[in-house]
Amino acid sequence: MIVNRPPMGWNSWNTFGENINENMIKEMADAMVDGGYLDAGYEYLVIDDCWSELHRDEKGRLVPSKEKFPNGMKAVADYVHSRGLKFGMYSCVGFLTCAGYPGSFDHEFQDAKTFAEWGVDFLKYDFCYRAITVKQKMLYRRMGLALEGCGRDILFSACSWGRDDTEKWIQSTGASMWRKTGDITDRWGTFHYLADKVMENTTSCSRGCFGDLDMLTVGMKGKGNVGQGGMTFNEYKMHFTLWAQMNSPLMIGCDLREPDEETRKILLNKDVIAINQDPLTAMPYNLEYYGGWNPEGVKIYVKHLSGGDLAIGIYNFSQEEAPCIVALDLVGLPPSTGKTLRIKELWTGTEKTVTNGVLRTPVGAHDCKIYRCKVIDI
Ligand code: GLA
Repeated sequence: MIVNRPPMGWNSWNTFGENINENMIKEMADAMVDGGYLDAGYEYLVIDDCWSELHRDEKGRLVPSKEKFPNGMKAVADYVHSRGLKFGMYSCVGFLTCAGYPGSFDHEFQDAKTFAEWGVDFLKYDFCYRAITVKQKMLYRRMGLALEGCGRDILFSACSWGRDDTEKWIQSTGASMWRKTGDITDRWGTFHYLADKVMENTTSCSRGCFGDLDMLTVGMKGKGNVGQGGMTFNEYKMHFTLWAQMNSPLMIGCDLREPDEETRKILLNKDVIAINQDPLTAMPYNLEYYGGWNPEGVKIYVKHLSGGDLAIGIYNFSQEEAPCIVALDLVGLPPSTGKTLRIKELWTGTEKTVTNGVLRTPVGAHDCKIYRCKVIDI
């Protein structure tokens, strides 16, 4: 299935882990719609690992947990669809899923058919317990083929953690997104580690097969399955902004049933979402040459947007406020072009025109600024 924008939605893993059930999922569907998340673009509701019985049935089919999903998965999918959302599920290339439930190895075509019958629109496909005799890419090819032929449009979300040079072969399996890294947890150390990893290589956030930086921890505040102390408002803001600018799928991981204004402010920032969903889907570049002006720990990324706009993101990973500088000649606007930028910071709404060819701004510790910029005459 071809997607033209990074997919957006909600996934059960970060907060709920194995504690999932039909009622909670229905409540989450309601919260996604009633809370304005669907309108903002979050359309997939995805049930992650731990949804099945520990054994297949006598015909080899996957069986939803009778305790967690007593009415089966079709009933859940029907409810999710009735709210205008799309429904996602999870399986794994191996004999078992990462949490030890049946995986799809050697059942790929049967499982794809089952998912299609249940009304599944999205499949996250994990990387645990794989057969060492079969190359990893073959395992994704098998499921890619099975999904393409199953009679239903199912978005293929590969979760191979960037292993085995995933970026070199994943697009040819029909996947629309692929996990670039290991698992996120809800704390600054993990976010910083993942950010460093993804910032090393922005070339593979490509169109049609988006580099997935893992589900968001925004709003978890240390609670739930991967909650590990949580992060501050500014740190969550930075996490969301970086994921958005890097063209990552935006999959929410917190409990949306608990209204929380700070979290809503981040997840529903339409201007930042628009950077992520921009139709040009250009990859961001790292402003590598800082002229020695920007302190260590400050990273600056620039992304071309449709209509000739730019998104400039300044991320301060250091422990102190940093005076930051973006020289416009580095983004293609030396004085000889007769152009400058009209900029709007998307968290504060502050607007101004850049003068003398240099954008200067302080950025707080563990904070960021993201500008939508219009090229204008000087
Ligand atoms: C792996 C994945 C996670 C999650 C768990 C479920 O660790 O990377 O995103 O799906 O498995 O067990």
